[in-house]
Amino acid sequence: MNDDSPRLIEIAFPLKQVSLDSVHEKNVRHGHISTLHIWPARRPLAACRATLIATLLPDPGTETERKPLLERLAGVVKKDNAFKNAGGRKVPIIKEYTQGGILHWGRENGPDLEFFRQEIKKAYGGRAPRILDPFAGGGAIPLEAMRLGCEVTAIDINPVAWFILKCTLEYPLCLAGQTRPLPSFALESPEFMERFLKGTRNGTKAQARRKEEATQGQMFEVPEADLSGHVWAWGHWVLNRARQDLERFYPTVDGKPTVAYLWARTVTCKNCRATLPLLKTLWLCHKDNKRFRLAIKKRHDKSGVDFAVVAEPVVGSNAAQRRAHDHRVGQGTMSRSGAWCPVCGGPNTVAMTLEDTRAEGMTGRLGAQMTTVVVNGLRGKEYRPPIAPELEVAEEAAVHIEDIFKDIPFGLPTEPTPPAGTLGNSIALYGFNQWYKLFTPRQLVALGTFVKHTRAARDAMRVEGYPRDWVEAVSAYLVCIFDRMLDFNSTEVSWITSVEAIGHTFVRYALPITWDYSESAVVNYVRGGWRMSMDAVLESLDTITTASAASPPQPTTGPKSALKAAHFGQFDLILTDPPYYDAIPYSDLMDYFYIWIRRMLNGLSTEFDEAFREPVGPKWNHETNNGELIDDSSRFNGDAQRSMSAYEEGMFRAFRLCHEALDPQGCMVVVFANKHPRAWESLASSMIRAGFIVHGSWPVQTEQTARIRAQGSAALASSVWIVCRKRPQTARPGWDTQVLEEMRSRIYGRLRTFWDAGIRGPDFVWAATGPALEAYSKHPVVKKADEPNAVLHVSEFLHAVRRIVVDYVVGRVLSRDGESTEVEALDNPTIYYLLHRHDFGLAEAPVGACILYAQSCSLRDRDLVDRYDLLAYGKSRAAAEEQLEETAENSEEETATSGSTMRLKRWEQRRRKDSGLPVSSRRATLIDQIHRIMHLWKDGDVQRVDTYLEEQGLRRKPVFPRVMQALIELARKDNQADEVSLLESIMNHISARGMHPQMRLIPEG
Ligand SMILES: C[S@@+](CC[C@H](N)C(=O)[O-])C[C@H]1O[C@@H](n2cnc3c(N)ncnc32)[C@H](O)[C@@H]1O
Repeated sequence: MNDDSPRLIEIAFPLKQVSLDSVHEKNVRHGHISTLHIWPARRPLAACRATLIATLLPDPGTETERKPLLERLAGVVKKDNAFKNAGGRKVPIIKEYTQGGILHWGRENGPDLEFFRQEIKKAYGGRAPRILDPFAGGGAIPLEAMRLGCEVTAIDINPVAWFILKCTLEYPLCLAGQTRPLPSFALESPEFMERFLKGTRNGTKAQARRKEEATQGQMFEVPEADLSGHVWAWGHWVLNRARQDLERFYPTVDGKPTVAYLWARTVTCKNCRATLPLLKTLWLCHKDNKRFRLAIKKRHDKSGVDFAVVAEPVVGSNAAQRRAHDHRVGQGTMSRSGAWCPVCGGPNTVAMTLEDTRAEGMTGRLGAQMTTVVVNGLRGKEYRPPIAPELEVAEEAAVHIEDIFKDIPFGLPTEPTPPAGTLGNSIALYGFNQWYKLFTPRQLVALGTFVKHTRAARDAMRVEGYPRDWVEAVSAYLVCIFDRMLDFNSTEVSWITSVEAIGHTFVRYALPITWDYSESAVVNYVRGGWRMSMDAVLESLDTITTASAASPPQPTTGPKSALKAAHFGQFDLILTDPPYYDAIPYSDLMDYFYIWIRRMLNGLSTEFDEAFREPVGPKWNHETNNGELIDDSSRFNGDAQRSMSAYEEGMFRAFRLCHEALDPQGCMVVVFANKHPRAWESLASSMIRAGFIVHGSWPVQTEQTARIRAQGSAALASSVWIVCRKRPQTARPGWDTQVLEEMRSRIYGRLRTFWDAGIRGPDFVWAATGPALEAYSKHPVVKKADEPNAVLHVSEFLHAVRRIVVDYVVGRVLSRDGESTEVEALDNPTIYYLLHRHDFGLAEAPVGACILYAQSCSLRDRDLVDRYDLLAYGKSRAAAEEQLEETAENSEEETATSGSTMRLKRWEQRRRKDSGLPVSSRRATLIDQIHRIMHLWKDGDVQRVDTYLEEQGLRRKPVFPRVMQALIELARKDNQADEVSLLESIMNHISARGMHPQMRLIPEG
């Protein structure tokens, strides 16, 4: 494209459809690229595809042409009546979904895809447009660009990400359509051949028929298979060999195959010297119709405890009683203050504080005790205590570790884990300072054995005479299978009692200490085993392969830093999703995979050897001022300021290089998915400083908001996709008055659109920030009209924007006609209260959102706690996350690694004597006045209510009944029946006494 005419995305975007399909994609378990290899914060493919198409295509110019184009891309939104299960009750809901288009999972290769490929090519004069993603991570953006026929350059500083990019982009394209004879051993395996010929291995029926004909026609010819057929064959080869070596470590008892072994870490009680099991829960299976838990039995000699498995009946006549009972009987030995000793103490005592346990861990004195064996019985999973041979074999495994690792390059993984103090990592505090310590001896034996055979498969492939690129690709996918299995095999993996399955290591992107863990029987066909991992990788490979069907140009990938990528050439579009401050410590976490990949790939190619030369992934190089862009002060000797500046300056340099690499008419789209005002301010100012101007932005929902709210999570429900262009050289400085005026005149229309699209909570604030920046970024600098030489900083500008947004939301809360009401007459704490109550009710809210709202209302969160008595600190995030662990699985959304929660105080809890009364020069806030009236009314003091209303002049305040009405509705939404009836009776009383004409109770509905 060689003109400046607007792109489709600068005018319109099918926001609702993209959000619906992105949220849906999060639930896809089979075939998604996320099952090929874990990478944190992968963006939904639907959103990447939609953004690419809408940015590469010109806007058709008229609504008549635009509408069918958008429909062809994203389909239409349909609504159905449906039900959802809410605590055992069926609740009617409206289910929205898309029909048509090429965004929904499974429709990505629909007939219209070719239309878009051709349109894109046409827009670029018949050539493939060149796309760069300098922070490509797990490859969602480049994969979609490839699907659209673009010429892709995808780089990431982390070699693990680069390895994933090779498996996602390079191999499938290089080897697309190629087949090779299956290895000779395949013919010898009846199981393999039967499944292969039947095409059960995901091939189409036509493919299966062809394979069958091939074998039948040439009786003794080995059939040909594509890449994934070979991965399947060699995956089996590895499994068969590993199984022979490992089977004895996973004995089958009574003919029931083992699923997993459950363990508790142990510590010696400092009071009685008994071995104390550290258990978070005693529950083994916690379902409505199946309930088993551990019972702890003190040993006679008081050396420790043994375990029994008991069926637990349902006790309690209502849900609350049942919950309380289950909580009591399921309580493990761990609390947040430490552990109690079942030998010398009771649940209300603490024998070992967390500090005690850490000290033991640091000197290598944490042990482990097997509590349960889970087996597959005739009617599902069964639980029993381990028998002696099972305990012996688990212990004996330690003897074999050295032998297994002596022939593996770099030996046992003794590389250091991220040091204590790094983001989201508490394992080092307990002495887990080298990676191998994160595995049981049997896990190490099993992993080492699979590494050995994965490496041997490569040699065997060479002997069979396969070409170099084929061997490399098949070996790489075997590594993906291994890594998938690795995620399920560490002592960081919990047992999920609600679904009776093992969890996985990266439930969220952090490495917290796990007390009770589960160990999968990897050689069996169980979750966490090689077979299951192989199925997942192969399903993913099959869907990935479809993206290269149109033979796009060969992609360029590299383990390179975005701070050094100037030489990448010219691009028509840069679409990227950069790292955000301290959100995810990619390199620290992904070292978990790095160290194993390094061992498996070593010697496969010089390219791999070079990329994985260092013992662990790249962090920050102080000499070259280059490295992973993440704000982690532990990389700067604890200097928070230096760490932050390195990140901010690094982002600026990266955007500057993007500016150089972008064609003059090109677009850059940056994904923002962070909730901290500072992150926005810094990324926005880097982009503007680097010479970009914001031309549009779209907040795409990626998580169900209900889930976010229910979890009190800090994760964003949406990411904002900001569209930029290069600012013309001729752009002149702007004046704050004009810029603010222009921002105000533009923003309300966009706020209405976003509100109607269902965007709520902190996301709504961020959604508005993009459009607002359009007015500001037009100028290289914005000066203050009434202050000579002073400039309006991005932070000041965005503060003004947030205030408008907050007022808009509260205006909607106060209004009943669907339009926003003026809130100027309201004081800031009351605005805060309404905003918070609307978005989070009385539940725990993430502290980040509270700070954001407080700042937007020109308040400090601390003042809302101490001075205004509106907020209380909630449970810590860690505690909340502990409860959520089981449901959070597979969420790839960015999750903050620190923080806690806050909640609004209920009116009954707000009992300060002077609340609602003016104190010195400060007037009482409206919310305090209302809560005071509620207390007086509750006490039956009608006379004092009337006097108070009179004294405070509330009868004459038009905003008073609006806020009362809003509070009634908010209380109704929170199921606070007492609060609703109290507020209603106050309103009725005031109406009956005669009042300001606007003060009549507004009927419900
Ligand atoms: C938000 S993630 C990208 C996720 C990706 N969009 C996906 O869908 O998987 C940001 C990425 O930036 C990478 N990164 C951090 N610093 C970098 C640097 N200096 N150069 C290149 N990549 C970097 C991280 O390794 C991480 O993969």
